[in-house]
Amino acid sequence: MIPVTIHINGEPHDILVEPGERLLDTLRDRLGLTGTKEGCGEGQCGACTVNLNGKAVLSCLMLTVQADGARVQTIEGLQTGLDLHPLQTAFLDEAAVQCGYCTPGMIMAGHALIKDHPDPDEARVKACLANTLCRCTGYEKPVRAILKAAGKMQGTRHD
Ligand code: FES
Ligand code: FES
Repeated sequence: MIPVTIHINGEPHDILVEPGERLLDTLRDRLGLTGTKEGCGEGQCGACTVNLNGKAVLSCLMLTVQADGARVQTIEGLQTGLDLHPLQTAFLDEAAVQCGYCTPGMIMAGHALIKDHPDPDEARVKACLANTLCRCTGYEKPVRAILKAAGKMQGTRHD
């Protein structure tokens, strides 16, 4: 087992992990953060997307040891107390959620996008979601939700 320290949703975690353990499994199985989903397990669906040092990464393709010393944010880390993050609210308002399996990945992809591009245009949002598969909603509503959240977040600070 290998010791690693990862800041997850603002809290430092000192944990022992297997050398070949995926970040996805550490989050879900060791830490109980089951909001991050496993779809394909091979980098094709985007369901496992989390933010690592502010960038969207596929946690099924990343070893936990590679995240040693990093800041990881998952869907559980977005809301503040009982207050949903503007992205979460926008997905609800736009009915961009059906079964919800892809939603954490979409929201975390959108979160990283807005951090780098606070006022993204539609093409940029579509490109950001291009690697996230959804079998329920199609993509129009999630795209609208991310654009709406970006608009609401203009000039406000959200982590
Ligand atoms: S589970 Fe990671 S990309 Fe599909
Ligand atoms: S809402 Fe069901 S897969 Fe996207």
